[in-house]
Amino acid sequence: MKLDGKVALVTGSSQGIGQAIAVKLASEGAKIVIDYRSHPEGAEETLRQVNEIGSQCHLSKDHAPEGYTVKADLGDVEQVRALVNAAIQHFGHLDILVNNAGMERHAPFWEVREADYDAVLNVNLKGAFFAAQALTQHLIETERPGKIINISSVHEELPFPNFAPYCLSKGGMKMMARDLAVELGPYGITINNVAPGAIETPINTKLLNDAEKLGALLQNIPLNRLGKSEDIATLVAFLASDEANYITGSTFVVDGGLLWNYHEQ
Ligand code: BGC
Repeated sequence: MKLDGKVALVTGSSQGIGQAIAVKLASEGAKIVIDYRSHPEGAEETLRQVNEIGSQCHLSKDHAPEGYTVKADLGDVEQVRALVNAAIQHFGHLDILVNNAGMERHAPFWEVREADYDAVLNVNLKGAFFAAQALTQHLIETERPGKIINISSVHEELPFPNFAPYCLSKGGMKMMARDLAVELGPYGITINNVAPGAIETPINTKLLNDAEKLGALLQNIPLNRLGKSEDIATLVAFLASDEANYITGSTFVVDGGLLWNYHEQ
């Protein structure tokens, strides 16, 4: 298995894309730290699925995938550091960080409130930045290589009217990967972004319930369907593995062709 012996922290893994990534990485042999903020029941469900996969794997007990849940608000740097430390304490080391936790708030630019701006930027960008920093400190100290994977968005490239703070955060993630790739390369630490398009997850509940908007969006997606969380998770598992050792500072778009075919609705 690709991730045998590795420990991975997936932020925001109580639902949606994060949950699918946690389960996929476990299916490749990794031990998983499941982070959640407000859905303990979702985190428990992720844990159940991770442990189920663990018990299906015919590996020695030391190597079987298993999960561990931790509550943390990614918008608070102290909690981010505590989360990374909890992961290291629990499993002894940490090799892979998936910066998946993210949120968006709808408002025209001229109505964006400071509190909403801060909420989005703090979780999506500041949390990812300081989680990466805490992992890097651990890796440099223990002289281990590692992998950081950011779940950004097609909106690290593409404007998304009425979601300006979200676009800023994803644009920041784009530069985060490029900049840190250069700084961390000499330590054997890679960083890459996976940029989903429209995926069937709770962040899109409103869209999924609006037939007209959904129809218009589908016309923009050459593959003519929304993505599934598993479409993202497969790529993350590859980028987290040694097969991707020579890849860093890149963004990989998983969007059914949306980015090259986008017309504003
Ligand atoms: C956003 C979704 C949106 C999709 C495509 C994602 O980053 O979270 O709300 O549907 O991009 O525009």
